[in-house]
Amino acid sequence: MTGDILKYLGEKEYISGEVLAQKLGFSRVAVWKQIQKLKDMGYKIISDQNLGYCLVSRPDLLLPQEIQRGLFTDYIGKKIYYFPELKSTNIIAKEKALHRAEGINEGTLIIAERQSAGKGRLGREWFSPVGGIWLSIILYPQLPPSYIPRITLMTAVAVVKAIKMCTQIRPQIKWPNDILINEKKVCGILTEMSAELDIINWLVVGIGINVNIDHRKFPEDIQENTISLKEVLGKEVLRVKLGQTFLQEFEKYYESLKRREFSSILKEWKLYSYTLGRKIRVDMGERIITGEAVNINEEGVLILKKEDGELVEIISGTIV
Ligand code: BTN
Repeated sequence: MTGDILKYLGEKEYISGEVLAQKLGFSRVAVWKQIQKLKDMGYKIISDQNLGYCLVSRPDLLLPQEIQRGLFTDYIGKKIYYFPELKSTNIIAKEKALHRAEGINEGTLIIAERQSAGKGRLGREWFSPVGGIWLSIILYPQLPPSYIPRITLMTAVAVVKAIKMCTQIRPQIKWPNDILINEKKVCGILTEMSAELDIINWLVVGIGINVNIDHRKFPEDIQENTISLKEVLGKEVLRVKLGQTFLQEFEKYYESLKRREFSSILKEWKLYSYTLGRKIRVDMGERIITGEAVNINEEGVLILKKEDGELVEIISGTIV
């Protein structure tokens, strides 16, 4: 309902309560109540007895109406479930992903201002206070499961591009999906899915970006290796703008991937790579391999050259 009012509430110009009520089919009291609600959410609205209401400024909250206003995508973010707080956007997204028949579509988003039990990779916790972007995208790609590594790499490129476009900062990507600035983690990506041998039933891509978070707020054990955009820039970043830019970039790259065009995405990934050319140790669960990261192939698989010259393909793992 508040979203409807916002469509008519002129920025920097007045609209009378009566006209608003007419346009929306509400009573004037209902309009007044919605205006109060918007004010409580952080919208600055002034009212004048004769002129009506005027929107002065909007809050930088990741509200669906704010994200969707000026979001140039075809389907990513057309439906948004917004929560001021929840446990984890990935958990809700996974529940919703099962209900495709009930109107959960490709590109549905779950967004939260804060997560109380944010999930990182390998069962780790993901610190998610107010000020970050914590979102999950539900996808139903008609691609084989072997495309999952490519989707992860593509997401990382979309994040890097969005950060670059909104802040001029040039982040780097640590394989497979950590986004770094000054060698510290600014964003993590958690891809979860249900798949069969040759089809993906659903995919949830969870993205966490440390945007406007003060360094001293990070838990001590991650302080050294974590950074936020606000810290790097010395000022706050508009999360709505960054979120929109990311979603637009995401859709663009995802469309390429659906056309099975990965080469150009890979080229960009390599351009921002932190990993290639470095000597690394990769924890693959059952064993740890050491070697030089020499390439990422057309399937999004990391190629490691061991000391004895043997080339090993690594589909998933963590650099330690
Ligand atoms: C990592 O360990 O690097 C992945 C972190 C992914 C965090 C994001 S925040 C939004 C989404 N919901 C979660 O619970 N996790 C992901």
